[in-house]
Amino acid sequence: MTSSITKQTNTKTTQIVHVVAKDRHHCIGKDNGLAWHIPEDLKHFKEITTGGVVVMGRKTFLSIGKPLPNRTNWVITRDTTWTADGVKVAHSLEQVLELASDDCTDGKLFIIGGGEIYRQSIDMADILEITEVDLDIKGDAFYPPIPSDFTEVWRSEPKTDDKSGVGFGFVRYQKKR
Ligand SMILES: NC(=O)c1ccc[n+]([C@@H]2O[C@H](COP(=O)([O-])OP(=O)(O)OC[C@H]3O[C@@H](n4cnc5c(N)ncnc54)[C@H](OP(=O)(O)O)[C@@H]3O)[C@@H](O)[C@H]2O)c1
Repeated sequence: MTSSITKQTNTKTTQIVHVVAKDRHHCIGKDNGLAWHIPEDLKHFKEITTGGVVVMGRKTFLSIGKPLPNRTNWVITRDTTWTADGVKVAHSLEQVLELASDDCTDGKLFIIGGGEIYRQSIDMADILEITEVDLDIKGDAFYPPIPSDFTEVWRSEPKTDDKSGVGFGFVRYQKKR
């Protein structure tokens, strides 16, 4: 499988970027919500994705509750009758990657979850923007194992959320060329 979408109609190549926060055991959520509140991580997520195109599963959209502002929001569902204000809808992973890449102006398409969508798209991803959260949540949504063809290219200094005392850090992985 190729690591980037190369459009048939032109030479544009879009990089697929996963943006995710996961705990020590790859848990990303519980009861269709996040299991922590780390404002600096939300800021980091906003900095990475603002102005861009985000792709998410229907359950993640429901957990957020509204389209993310200043981003083109794509939601994937198998329900062909499903609609929501302010979002574009696709019905397969292939379809969303094709259509959403047409909306990308800076060459990056951000996949923002949840577990089902990360799992289906990780082999197509080029960059993984991961927040490592130093918790052990007993949740029900998980990030897949990072494939061995990714290498860590950047890591922030360890951080601690002032209010909750939870440790966390940002890590970037890139697919080896
Ligand atoms: N920590 C993080 O960074 C982070 C980020 C995002 C989400 N989350 C968490 O992850 C959890 C949600 O993840 P999830 O795995 O339960 O759900 P999800 O991946 O957000 O959404 C799953 C839904 O997407 C649709 N779908 C999946 N594959 C599809 C395909 N190939 N074609 C068409 N539609 C497809 C289906 O919708 P239909 O049922 O409508 O067909 C499916 O039910 C929540 O707890 C959320 O808070 C965490």
